[in-house]
Amino acid sequence: MPIITNNDDLRELARRKIPKAIFEYIDHGSYDQISLNANRNELKAIRFRQRVLVDADNRSLATTMLGEKVSMPLAIAPTGLTGLMHGDGEILAARAAEAAGIRFCLSTMSICSIEDVRAATKAPFWFQLYVFRDRGFSETVIERAKAAGCTALFLTVDLPLRGQRHCDIKNGLSVPPRLTVANALDIMSKPGWALGVLMGKRKSFGNIDAYLKSKGGIWAAGRWGNDNFDASLSWKDVSWIRKLWPGKLVIKGVLDPDDARRAADLGADAVVVSNHGGRQLDGAPATITVLPRIAEAVGERIEVLLDGGIRSGQDVLKALALGARGCLIGRAYLYGLAAMGEAGVAKAVSLIANELKVSMSLTGVREIKDITRDILFDYAEDRRRNV
Ligand code: FNR
Repeated sequence: MPIITNNDDLRELARRKIPKAIFEYIDHGSYDQISLNANRNELKAIRFRQRVLVDADNRSLATTMLGEKVSMPLAIAPTGLTGLMHGDGEILAARAAEAAGIRFCLSTMSICSIEDVRAATKAPFWFQLYVFRDRGFSETVIERAKAAGCTALFLTVDLPLRGQRHCDIKNGLSVPPRLTVANALDIMSKPGWALGVLMGKRKSFGNIDAYLKSKGGIWAAGRWGNDNFDASLSWKDVSWIRKLWPGKLVIKGVLDPDDARRAADLGADAVVVSNHGGRQLDGAPATITVLPRIAEAVGERIEVLLDGGIRSGQDVLKALALGARGCLIGRAYLYGLAAMGEAGVAKAVSLIANELKVSMSLTGVREIKDITRDILFDYAEDRRRNV
């Protein structure tokens, strides 16, 4: 077993463990991947203000997200097809989140269903909703999330149409799939992955299957999903969902302060500043770039969460300093899951926790509530002083 010291190590292990088509589905972004790369580059460009002799003992990461007590300001982002990255992937990730004291958010497009995750865990989890043309589906799925005790509904609003990932087309990852000799050989060379997925609880989209009562398996459910994404989704639908869902309502995929204000006006409890991990509008700004403006616009009324490019505790600390209540991780946990199953997700989370704790100590903050913009090195101020 290789020594894992950071999220890049998990990514590299994942690359070796799962078929290329699946790895690239996780790893890549849409079109020229400008936004995918910007998410990482803009986070990397931020610098901390190091403080010394501040008694670096006993840092606490405990906080709340959406009013729920969590061990650290981190949650698992909703990701589709997770049970294809590792057999029973959603269940394993939910269990790892539960053990770590953080929240797991299940995607509409998951392999394991809402009920599968409920049966496998005790902690509350969150549910992410895609709205399809068939509004009956949305209503039943909301009812199922309620029945499973989900405490928050994340309405994803940045995917009325799908951005294109070139790799998925080239790799034949389409509905229906294009099975080439190359990917058949690739799958055969990853027997551990294949066996895990074959032995998994489900072979299709668990939430959609239960509704369609379809026997056509993953490709029939996938085709239904593809054909039914509702491109006409609009603000009036937020009011409709607000009426159906009594718990916390979170609008995921906001990059503009005006949209964030509108979400708050319509009764949302939080927004996720997100560009879908650079998988949708290519050329949209990095999430960390727009975060301060959104926090300024609505941070006093609702919670502002952020995702996109978060791979380390340092990244989380930067986002908190710029106004986020907490962060969600997509790829950072998927690399862990694909590399080592539940233990890999636990590893991804514990790496971030340790990095966050050390970085808080070195920037002189003791508790999450003490993190402010003051811990960041101010380039503008520095330039002013040097002219
Ligand atoms: C996603 N994302 C996503 N979002 C969502 O609301 N529903 C979904 O089903 C999916 N599916 C999905 C699959 C994969 C493979 C990835 C990588 C991402 C977006 C996700 O919730 C989150 O916004 C991004 O992953 C955040 O960026 P990072 O952490 O991956 O850089």
